[in-house]
Amino acid sequence: MKSLYYILFLIIFSSRYFFIICQNVPSPRREQTSTLVGTKLYFFGGNISPTLPSNEVWYLDLSSSFNISTPPWHSSTVMPVGYNFGTSCLSPIDNSTVFLVGGRTWIANTFDYSNISSVYQFNSKTSQWTIPAINNFNSSFLSRNMIQAVIDKNGKMFIFGGTNFISLTVTPNSTFYNDMNTLDISTMTWSTQIQSQSVLIYYAYTATLLSNGLIVYIGGRRGSSYANMAQIQTFDTKSYTWSTKFASGTTIASRGSHSAVLTQDGNIIIYGGSTDDSSGKLSYVLSDIAVLNTNSWVWTVPSISGINAPPLTEHSAALYKNYMILGFGATSTSALYTNNIYMLDIQNYTWVTTFNIPTTTNQEQSNSNNSANLYIGIGIGVGVFILVVVLFVVGLFIYKNRHKQEIIATPGTSKDDRILK
Ligand SMILES: *[C@@H]1O[C@H](CO)[C@@H](O)[C@H](O)[C@H]1NC(C)=O
Ligand SMILES: *[C@@H]1O[C@H](CO)[C@@H](O)[C@H](O)[C@H]1NC(C)=O
Repeated sequence: MKSLYYILFLIIFSSRYFFIICQNVPSPRREQTSTLVGTKLYFFGGNISPTLPSNEVWYLDLSSSFNISTPPWHSSTVMPVGYNFGTSCLSPIDNSTVFLVGGRTWIANTFDYSNISSVYQFNSKTSQWTIPAINNFNSSFLSRNMIQAVIDKNGKMFIFGGTNFISLTVTPNSTFYNDMNTLDISTMTWSTQIQSQSVLIYYAYTATLLSNGLIVYIGGRRGSSYANMAQIQTFDTKSYTWSTKFASGTTIASRGSHSAVLTQDGNIIIYGGSTDDSSGKLSYVLSDIAVLNTNSWVWTVPSISGINAPPLTEHSAALYKNYMILGFGATSTSALYTNNIYMLDIQNYTWVTTFNIPTTTNQEQSNSNNSANLYIGIGIGVGVFILVVVLFVVGLFIYKNRHKQEIIATPGTSKDDRILK
C-alpha cells in the first residue's frame, strides 16, 4: 500500500522536476562561442559573472516562433573543460559535428588552466564530446584565443592570429600572433603559415568567408591599437595571399570583440564591440549597426526601427533566415553581462520582439512537424495527467477499503487473516 503512495509521490515530484528543467535559463555570460546547427543555435562556454569560465552548452530552439523575452533554451552535455575566448565551426561534411578550436580552456569550475587540447569535437546528434587526434599539430597554437575561425565547404578551417594565455598571475600574460593556422577536418591535418607580409590586426577581429574564397577580417586589435575600419585585410584561401581593401562610405569607429554575419547578397553586418584603454580595461561599449558591401567595399549605416539592442561586446551573432541573432555579452564597461538575445530583421533593419519563422515552403514543412511534435507533447502530457489521476483514485479506493476493513475487523483477528479475506 505504502509503495503505491511512494510511486504517486515520485510521479508528481518528477513531473514537477521535469517542469523546472524545461524552464531553465542560462545565467548571464560573455566570451562564449556559438554555432548554428540546423535549427539549433548552440552557445559554448563563456565567462559567467563575475569571471568563472563555464563548461556549459546551451542551445536556442529556432524550429518554432517565440517571444524573445522568453527564448526556448535547452541545455546540452557540458564540455570537458571550462571555455572562453575560443571559436567554433560546423563541419560542412556531416553538418552535425562542431569543432571548437583554441580558446582558454580551464579545469571546469576552477581557475586552473587546462592544457590538454586545442581542439574539441562535439557530436550534436549524440551530444558527445571527444578530443580528436590531429596530425602535425603546431604546439605554439596551444591556448591561442580571441580568434575567429572560418571553414570552407571542403572542411578546411582557417584560424588567424590570436593571443595566447600563459597565466592570470604572470606579466605579461600573453603574446600576439599573426600566423595563419589551418585544420583540414577531412584528414585532421594541421598546418601553420607564417606571415611574410605585414599584417596589421592580430586578435578580437571578426572573420567572414565570402563565396569567392576571400576571408574578410574586420576590426580587431594589437595591444591598445585598433584596426582601421576603412582598411580591411582579406586573405585569399585559394592563393594564400593577403591584400588590403580600402573601404569608402561612412566612417566606422574602430573596435574589437564585435560580431559579424554575412547576408546572401554579400553584405557583412556588424554589431557592437568595444574599445579598451591602454591598460586593457574596457573603456567604451558600442551599440551600432554597420553594413559593409563586399562587392563595392562601401560602409553604410542603415536606418533602424524597433527597440535597439543595448551596447554589447564579447557577445556572439548568427544569421538564421532573415534574422541576425545576438546572444549574451557584456553590456557596459563595469562587467555587466546579459543572458538576453536580440534579433534584427535584416530585410528592413528592424529589431523585433517576436521571432517569427518566415513562411516559405521549407518552413511550412518544419512548421507542420512542429505542430505534430506539439500534439505528441500534449498527448504525453495528458496521458501522464490521466495516469496520475487514475493512480490517485485507485490509491484512495484501496486506502478507504483497507480502512473500512480495519474498522470491521473483530479484535483478535490477525493481519494475515485480514489479507486472506
Ligand atoms: C513578450 O513577452 C513580454 C514579457 O512577458 C511581454 O511584455 C510582451 O508583450 C510579449 N510580446 C509579444 C509580442 O507577445
Ligand atoms: C519588417 O519586415 C517584416 C517581414 O519581413 C514585417 O513583418 C515587419 O512589419 C517589417 N517592419 C517594419 C518596421 O517595416
